[in-house]
Amino acid sequence: MTTSLQDIAQAMVAQGKGLLAADESTGTIKKRFDTIDVDSTEENRRDYREMLFRTTPAMKEAISGVILFDETIRQKAADGTPLTQIIQDAGSIPGIKVDMGAKDLPRSHGEKVTEGLDGLRARLREYYELGARFAKWRAVIDIGRGGNRSVPSAYCIHANAHALARYAALCQEAGIVPIVEPEVLMDGDHDAERCYQVTQATLKALYTELYEQRVSLEGTILKPNMIVSGKSCPTQASPEEVAERTLKCFAHTVPAAVPGIVFLSGGQSDIDATANLNAINQLKSASSSPYPWALSFSYGRALQTAPLDAWRGNAANVTAGQRAFAHRARMNGLAATGAWSPEMET
Ligand code: 13P
Repeated sequence: MTTSLQDIAQAMVAQGKGLLAADESTGTIKKRFDTIDVDSTEENRRDYREMLFRTTPAMKEAISGVILFDETIRQKAADGTPLTQIIQDAGSIPGIKVDMGAKDLPRSHGEKVTEGLDGLRARLREYYELGARFAKWRAVIDIGRGGNRSVPSAYCIHANAHALARYAALCQEAGIVPIVEPEVLMDGDHDAERCYQVTQATLKALYTELYEQRVSLEGTILKPNMIVSGKSCPTQASPEEVAERTLKCFAHTVPAAVPGIVFLSGGQSDIDATANLNAINQLKSASSSPYPWALSFSYGRALQTAPLDAWRGNAANVTAGQRAFAHRARMNGLAATGAWSPEMET
């Protein structure tokens, strides 16, 4: 029996659950392993991810799906079980990162466009056979430093929105739910209001392209940034301010047909990412305005920093690593319904 795109999308944002983004490219996972002095060998990458996926029962309780990298979707655990099987046994859905990374956008001032459309139809067919039921494509939108308003350019926003929609249509043809991820970066000294404006323009362009390219919104998931202050902005928005701006921005841009929105953590600390998600869901519940989408998480760093640090490449630390991952998964599961509080962290 094949499951409809809408059913898969709904399952990805089931109440109190979110996604684990474990799709670091070989280059990115090396950077993460460098921070704990572990060599990025294929076996170490496998052992680390196997540790996360075997974290029961927290995976079952709080993780609806796992985004994998090409290497991982083909890997087997130490005992020969495919990693995708371990994910499925935990009641979670395997997904796959299919973009080929953000590359220089020609004739721009250092902006990026995400590549990976060539041959994508055939790759999606193979990933479906390997068990993937959703995919991810990340576009990167930078914000100019020192008040430079020419970045992002309309050119960059539209080139990325166009590619996201091309990808999304191909996914749906293959029976795979596209996660559309237009990430407005936190890097820089801009304030939260500027993040609001850029995110609003980006989402407007994205939903226009998705419409023009005949993508069925019911079978998509949006993975955006929250509306936060730039990392080096002297004033940092509080969780309540983040919640207010984020919901307002989506109310103006994200159609009600979209089943769910899962945030990236984007360099926020793990506690900030949880506190902000919680504030967003509390405001959603308290508000008289209708916010029709589930609002959950698809965190990479905010779910993995603690377990990575507890594990440190040592098999003797697997239980400690799993305990750290289970804690963050549960905290974010609670934040996805607005039921988290800071005391739960101690
Ligand atoms: P972070 O949560 O670390 O930003 O990663 C999420 C992700 O998948 C970015 O594409």
